[in-house]
Amino acid sequence: MAKSDHVFTCQACGAIWPKWAGKCEACGEWNTLVEETARPVVPGAFAAPTGGGGKKSKGLAFVELTGEAEPPARLASGMSEFDRVCGGGLVPASAILIGGDPGVGKSTLLLQVAAALAKSGRSVAYVTGEEAEAQVQDRARRLKAGDAPVHLAAETDLRKILEGLKALKPDVVVVDSIQTLWADGVEAAPGTVAQVRACAHELVRFAKKSGCVVILVGHVTKDGQIAGPRVVEHLVDAVIYFEGERGMPFRILRAVKNRFGPTDEIGVFEMIDQGLVETPNPSALFLGGAGDRPSGAAVFASVEGSRPVLVEIQALAAPTAYGTPRRAVVGWDTARLAMILAVLETRCGLSFSGRDVYLSVAGGLRITEPAADLAVAAALISALVDQALPPHCVVFGEVALSGEVRPAGRTDLRLKEAAKLGFEQAFAPPQKKNGAGAGVKVRQIGHIAELAAALGAVD
Ligand code: TYD
Ligand code: MG
Repeated sequence: MAKSDHVFTCQACGAIWPKWAGKCEACGEWNTLVEETARPVVPGAFAAPTGGGGKKSKGLAFVELTGEAEPPARLASGMSEFDRVCGGGLVPASAILIGGDPGVGKSTLLLQVAAALAKSGRSVAYVTGEEAEAQVQDRARRLKAGDAPVHLAAETDLRKILEGLKALKPDVVVVDSIQTLWADGVEAAPGTVAQVRACAHELVRFAKKSGCVVILVGHVTKDGQIAGPRVVEHLVDAVIYFEGERGMPFRILRAVKNRFGPTDEIGVFEMIDQGLVETPNPSALFLGGAGDRPSGAAVFASVEGSRPVLVEIQALAAPTAYGTPRRAVVGWDTARLAMILAVLETRCGLSFSGRDVYLSVAGGLRITEPAADLAVAAALISALVDQALPPHCVVFGEVALSGEVRPAGRTDLRLKEAAKLGFEQAFAPPQKKNGAGAGVKVRQIGHIAELAAALGAVD
């Protein structure tokens, strides 16, 4: 039977299927399968060895683990928040993927990084497939980086880009974005899994061969995953997300994979008219500071996927004007709120029956983690008794129907993030390891009644 060279690739998860189907069985997404030609990305990469007449393979040369030369020095941009997330600067011959929502400021950040590197004497190229050269120049002027000797090009053809880079031999190249590039050997539209994978593969190969640092920009989808570029994550040495809420000035740079450094470092920036400004003391900006909060507000130390995120949960318990009190929730599960209210009522004797309850997760985030229970309970109790939580305090833990507080995973990660953002204490489930975690004093809460007592709601 003749083998078809056409396959169907899921644009959401990258799974490959021999036949088209409405639903991808790997990730469950609908209408994501797109027909692609199953040709090796590198022509001849999988060709069978030729016998006799063909070019002879040189064989595989093995080397010692110790190596001979000292590892090359890292390239520090001088933007300390960026350098820290990269593990102390960019590693020569590495490839980095910077992901983030459209409009979050990826191009702004990388133009600033490129300008800073160029000013420090590095050869830097900035290839944009999204904007015209004049637009980038205009932005550079606004960022006061117009005088930096960055080599700028507007191009989407991968072949031309690679030729240009081979001639220029830069130390660092920024490619903005990977979704706009196209390789002529691939029969698929730019932005599809096949194109993104092929272009990234070639650019990563270029990085490894030439010693150049390749920084790829990728846009993410609403669910926080890099669509298309997600299939690139395993190809690159580091994956860094740039996050921020619409309407909020702060932006967070966070490594989710880094072959050359830790992944629990964050870099915090503020977006102003002149671009991104580094924020060495993030708690002053983030959450409006770690300090005093009004009653009804609790800071939840959450973990989203592999990433710790601190969010403020706000509650209001207003006297009701209706027979049936209202329960309005933004960013959390209504059924779960009903459950926490019932637990507070039954296990602690705190009654919300005459009150409308409003619950909101600040910044427009949506929380799904069960560990938010205790933070929601803290916000509700604080709103009910009209007494603020202790300052510099984070809360996390899952609440059972019995009122028992269950351990939440990744306690160390949560506490480390809280410490980094200037928090000093935590209401958290009992842990095996007693005492302080990462400089945060842990007040162990084994039952929800203990939380109510700590907040002065019950004796
Ligand atoms: P941009 O870097 O183009 O985002 P991305 O590349 O991630 O899509 O950032 C665009 C946003 O940043 C835009 O909404 C305006 C804002 N911005 C500022 O507030 N100040 C600035 O100096 C710049 C350049 C952009
Ligand atoms: Mg951009």
